[in-house]
Amino acid sequence: MPARPRDVPRRLGRPPAAAANKAELRDPGYPELLPDRHPDRDGGPCAPDVQRLRAVLECAASITENIMTFELPNLPYSRDALEPYISARTLDLHYGKHHQGYVDKLNAAVKGKPDAEKSLEEIIRSGSGAVFNNAAQVWNHTFYWRSMSPNANPEPTGNLADAIAGEFGDLATLKAQFAEAANGQFGSGWAWLVLGPNRRLSITKTSNAENPLTAGETPLLTLDVWEHAYYVDYFNDRAKYVRTFLDNLANWEFASKNFDNSD
Ligand SMILES: [Fe+2]
Repeated sequence: MPARPRDVPRRLGRPPAAAANKAELRDPGYPELLPDRHPDRDGGPCAPDVQRLRAVLECAASITENIMTFELPNLPYSRDALEPYISARTLDLHYGKHHQGYVDKLNAAVKGKPDAEKSLEEIIRSGSGAVFNNAAQVWNHTFYWRSMSPNANPEPTGNLADAIAGEFGDLATLKAQFAEAANGQFGSGWAWLVLGPNRRLSITKTSNAENPLTAGETPLLTLDVWEHAYYVDYFNDRAKYVRTFLDNLANWEFASKNFDNSD
């Protein structure tokens, strides 16, 4: 059997090129993409093009991987702004870990699917399973952060105040019904002040990630009653957490804007 020409790489099995042509082919011509030539990778006549294509594909894949459909919204205040009622430690965990986690899981669940093109509200109204749960939890938590303020007015004003007086009689009655819903929610969930399709205010509660949007209601204010929301600061005393929210943190200005914008 004749000896294999020394210049033919065994891996490619190509016939030898003329010396001049071979030198030309082995020159990648793309030094910025091939800074580390290697005799095994660059041994064949197609190696420069293969290497260049690989670099381009890896770059494109890296860019695509880093584009997230949904992002964690900024908090409307600093992480220690709600102290002494809710600690920075709780915000670090609740916002930085749990809320971020829902965003990450949602992005993973919708990747490459039609849901990636939808808004959170569209997913909540039409989705199910993990996609719904994570989309709703992203929406619910974003709404929850805005339902609290470090400079909260003690009571609502304007049109919402009039509507509360008409529906509940006074704010104390609304708070009592809200606390009953929040404390009575078995397991994880949410308490809400909502505006129904009939334009009447009501207090409601939902389990896990459920959201009033699926019932055609407009959320005005919410309180997270998952244990991760209060256990660091209040241990198992959910009632104290609920009372603290209603008396010190409830953002009635936010609720009023939601009410006025619901027309
Ligand atoms: Fe939460």
